[in-house]
Amino acid sequence: MIGSAKASPALSGVPETLLITLAARLLAHRLNPDLGFVDPAAETIGAALDFDPNRFAHDRASLRGALVRSRWFDRVTATFIQAHPDGLVVSIGSGLDTRPHRLGLPSGLDWIDIDFPEVIALREALVPALPRVRSWAGDGTDVAAWAEAIGWRTGRPVLMAAEGVSMYLEPEQGRRWLAASAEEAARRQSALRLVLDFASPMMARNGRRNPSVRKTKARFRWGVSGPAEIERLGYRLRETHDVARQSGSLSRLVGATYRLLTGRLIYSCAVFDASEARRGNIPSGRLLS
Ligand SMILES: C[S@@+](CC[C@H](N)C(=O)[O-])C[C@H]1O[C@@H](n2cnc3c(N)ncnc32)[C@H](O)[C@@H]1O
Repeated sequence: MIGSAKASPALSGVPETLLITLAARLLAHRLNPDLGFVDPAAETIGAALDFDPNRFAHDRASLRGALVRSRWFDRVTATFIQAHPDGLVVSIGSGLDTRPHRLGLPSGLDWIDIDFPEVIALREALVPALPRVRSWAGDGTDVAAWAEAIGWRTGRPVLMAAEGVSMYLEPEQGRRWLAASAEEAARRQSALRLVLDFASPMMARNGRRNPSVRKTKARFRWGVSGPAEIERLGYRLRETHDVARQSGSLSRLVGATYRLLTGRLIYSCAVFDASEARRGNIPSGRLLS
């Protein structure tokens, strides 16, 4: 931020979607008080940013879904951190997320936020700094690039989390990213836990009807047929979560109908462990403090 002027979120396309999840956090106390979502660091960011979260307030289902998803990501991340207080968390597509502030991190844990350069610049300006939380600016799907730059040490347990990201990737890009991550973990003899949410093909096809996403120039690209599609990339499923079930009555109804017709979730969060590796060859980027 320059002087006392508010920072302008001059974002477009996929990076602009970070404003949707930020709006969910900023409006949580008003629109979804029953979830008890508390995030003082998000309030600090909101106060410093030239952004009215009411731009997305009409889309109650998406904002509630984002909070339900965030609480679930908080829980599974906390479980990893508890088991591996000296581990490494790599957050792909962090946006202006404030998970480290919500969770509180043990002193031996390293946390890397990865997003595009314009987003990382905004993070550096707005997100309250924490010890051992660093950023890397670049394409989070360029695994070999960030793995080298952040100093992923051999044998270190890693949690790679990507919240609200996979649906914006080209399908082939998404599959290469996950396969390359499993391969990198095997090469570095690290246990890799993957936490992500993914849209079903139907949800991806209908992405342009999403009232919040349609306000940005972003589009859904990748619909995942189910956890087996991720498992084939070198992972083993540990847990899934049905976000639609808790995201308001319309989402619940649509999700239940889809489940009845297909036997699948319309929109999932899931935890996987990497189980095997594949070779990849991906270009490099830049490490920020
Ligand atoms: C919907 S926002 C979610 C932000 C954050 N995870 C949250 O939950 O608040 C999607 C974010 O993913 C980022 N993103 C999408 N594709 C990416 C990629 N290939 N590499 C790095 N970041 C990416 C966008 O720039 C944006 O910040």
